[in-house]
Amino acid sequence: EQPSPYYFAERQDIAALLVPRNKFSHKGTYGHALLLAGSSGTSGAAVIAAEACLRSGAGLLTVHSTKQTVDALSYRLPEAMTQTDEHDSFITFCDDLSSYRAIGFGPGVGRASETQQLLKSVIQRFQGRLIIDADGLNILAENKTWLEFLPKDTILTPHPKEFERLAGPSDTHFDRLQKARAFATRYACILILKDTYTHICMPDGSVVFNSTGNAGLAKGGSGDCLTGIILGLLTRGYPPPQAALTGTFIHGYTADLCAEMMSQESILITDVIRQLPCAFKQLE
Ligand code: APR
Ligand code: MG
Repeated sequence: EQPSPYYFAERQDIAALLVPRNKFSHKGTYGHALLLAGSSGTSGAAVIAAEACLRSGAGLLTVHSTKQTVDALSYRLPEAMTQTDEHDSFITFCDDLSSYRAIGFGPGVGRASETQQLLKSVIQRFQGRLIIDADGLNILAENKTWLEFLPKDTILTPHPKEFERLAGPSDTHFDRLQKARAFATRYACILILKDTYTHICMPDGSVVFNSTGNAGLAKGGSGDCLTGIILGLLTRGYPPPQAALTGTFIHGYTADLCAEMMSQESILITDVIRQLPCAFKQLE
C-alpha cells in the first residue's frame, strides 16, 4: 500500500519549523518585501496585508499602490515604505524587481487590463518568491495560459470560489480536494485552499490540513491578513512550503487566541493582527 499523502499540522509541528532571529542580524538579513495591493475602494486590503507582513518578520516592506491607499497606509503604518502609482484607481507599476526577496500580489488590486499586464510581467520576470491572492487569482483565472509560467513554488491562496474560477466546479468536497492536489502538481505551485480546515496542497501531491482558526475569521479582510503573514515569512527567509504551513497555522492560531478573550462575533482582523506578536511568542 502507498503511504498516505494526507497530513495534519499541529502546534508542535509548526513550532519545530520556526527559526529564531539572529542576534547579529540586521534588516537586510530578513529581506525586502514588495506588496502590490489595493485600488480604488480597497485600500483596507493593502493596509491589512502590509501590517500582517511586518508583524511576521520581514526586514523591509515597500507597498506599491494608488494614492488613496498610500495615504491610508502612511497614516496607519509608518514602518512601511510606499510608492504611489501613476494611476489613481488601479496599479500598473513594474520597476526593477531584483531587490525584493518576495512579492505579494493581489489583495484589492481589481482586474483592470493594466493590472493584468502587471501580474504577467511579475510572473515572467521575478526570480524571488511569490504569493498570489484574491484578484491576482481572478486575473489568472481569466488568463489560464499564464499558469504555465508561474515560478516554481509560487503560493496561491484561493477561497473555494476563487479555486472554482481557476479549476472549474467540483461535485463534492473530495472531488475539489483531488482537483486542488492535481493543480498543485501540474503547475508545481503550493495551493492553499482556504476553508474551515484549510488544505495546503504541495507540488509533490501531499496535502496538509490546518487545525487552527474559527468563525471569527469569517469576515472581510481575513484572507488579506493570511497573505501578509505568508509574505512576511517568505521575505524573512522561510522556504515556500514552510512559509505556507507556518503562515496558515499562525493565522488561525492567532484568531483562536483572540477567541479566548473576545466573542467570535466581534473579532476584527485588526484584533487578530494585534495579537500576532503574542502568537509568535507562544510558539517560540
Ligand atoms: N473557520 C476557520 N477559518 C475561517 C473560517 C472559519 N469558519 N472562515 C474563514 N476562515 C479563514 C479562511 O480559512 C481564510 O484563511 O479566513 C480566511 C478568509 O479568506 P477569504 O475568503 O479570502 O476572505 P477575505 O479576505 O475576506 O476576502 C475578501 O477577497 O477573494 C476576495 O472577492 C473576495 O472580496 C473578497 C475578498
Ligand atoms: Mg480573499
